[in-house]
Amino acid sequence: MTEPSAALQVAALPGLPEIAADSDLLAEIGERLHDGPVWPDGSIGCRDGDVLVVASKIVAKAEGRTRHAMGREELLDSQTAETVAGGGTDGAGVRIVRTHHGFVMAAAGIDNSNTPNGNVLLLPEDPDASARHLRAGLQRLLGVEVAVVITDTFGRPWRLGQTDQAIGVAGLKALLDLAGQRDSHGNELMVSAPAIADEVAGAAELVCGKTSGLPVAVVRGLGPLVTTTDGPGAAALVRPKHEDLFTMGTREAFDAGRRAAVSGRRTIRFFTDRPVPAELIAESVSDAITAPSPHHTTPWRFIHLRDRNRRQALLDAMLADWIADLATLDSYSDENIAKRVQRGDILRRAPELVLPFLALADACHDYPDERRNGCERDLFLMSGGAAVQNLLVALSARGLGSAWISSTVFAAETVRDVLGLPDGWQPYGGVAVGYPRDQAPQRPPREVGDHLIVM
Ligand SMILES: Cc1cc2nc3c(=O)[nH]c(=O)nc-3n(C[C@H](O)[C@H](O)[C@H](O)COP(=O)(O)O)c2cc1C
Repeated sequence: MTEPSAALQVAALPGLPEIAADSDLLAEIGERLHDGPVWPDGSIGCRDGDVLVVASKIVAKAEGRTRHAMGREELLDSQTAETVAGGGTDGAGVRIVRTHHGFVMAAAGIDNSNTPNGNVLLLPEDPDASARHLRAGLQRLLGVEVAVVITDTFGRPWRLGQTDQAIGVAGLKALLDLAGQRDSHGNELMVSAPAIADEVAGAAELVCGKTSGLPVAVVRGLGPLVTTTDGPGAAALVRPKHEDLFTMGTREAFDAGRRAAVSGRRTIRFFTDRPVPAELIAESVSDAITAPSPHHTTPWRFIHLRDRNRRQALLDAMLADWIADLATLDSYSDENIAKRVQRGDILRRAPELVLPFLALADACHDYPDERRNGCERDLFLMSGGAAVQNLLVALSARGLGSAWISSTVFAAETVRDVLGLPDGWQPYGGVAVGYPRDQAPQRPPREVGDHLIVM
């Protein structure tokens, strides 16, 4: 693969008139190339292997892409494949969007600079096609084999200032894949791929400027990168979406994460062996105890039962309780009991087990009547459920699966006995925690339907 040239010359093409919708851009450029640029060696215009760099603005004007500025928002919508940033809830500031071409640009490249007052200019509809059209036309008119690069100005998310980049290319290796080649020290280049067409655009901008009315430049010295065919165009520079680590802005990503946090939680009953870092559980409990609760209390306790022997002792004791209940209260036969309890025990096989409790001592207000004491108790029950749901959502937000299992609720005494807990601690089930074995099925949004009554 060829490397760029060691010496370049870049010259603006002088003398172009104001381009409008009825201009023949190809003819205008072709004509000016008879007189300029004048090169240091005395040659004039373009020759084989040169790169003609054209500001998208005049291409767009000639293609009739001028619009009234009035409907700017609607225009922006029409040019937007998706909003990347700035389209958040407050809608403030500039919108960074992915255009239908795949370019990620502020306001889809819609611009009012160098455009008559009250008008804006869209990007060319298909800048690669525009570049191919100019290239073929110049070959026809002047008999030269040049490359064409159409440029527009881009901001950079991590750097101040803007630079011109290529949005349309014909006849130039827009992206030079150097992977597999060796540097001067013999090291193999792994990912090097200079964006040649963008570098050409930047070089041309240096001689064209933004205010001098020079929208076309010629770059000489890149002959080895100029191709006989049109090639893939600037489309070769568009990063495929699946390789894009920054498909949305930070605020948009937070918004999306917040919206998905609750519905993204699913009951996960099968886990991988991947160890769960204890700090993730601690962080999740820290989130859980931000639940709302009556009287500014924090009545929740979570036991992270890490000791395997204690876990087994607890689950064995609970199983014994269950069997006793099935035998005495449900009059199950031994055979039916065996069948019933044989079901996979999620709490036994989960990598981690968290046991939520409500510690009511001193939390409830004391009323002289049963009714209000019952209501008071209900308040705390609600807040217990809220804290456990918080925990499940917090775990899910950290990539952890969980299943809230009711069994401890039915064996409160036993749980307290085996773990040596105070009498007032009411078990809120057990939460099996681990990395999900399978991807949780996507749940379609639930219809609000009868669940929401608006009065
Ligand atoms: C208080 C409570 C107790 C639960 N107990 C069990 C249980 O003992 N075993 C079980 O497999 N799932 C249990 N679940 C989980 C539900 O079955 C689960 O939430 C339901 O299937 C809906 O699935 P989803 O959580 O993915 O939306 C319990 C859920 C709650 C809220």
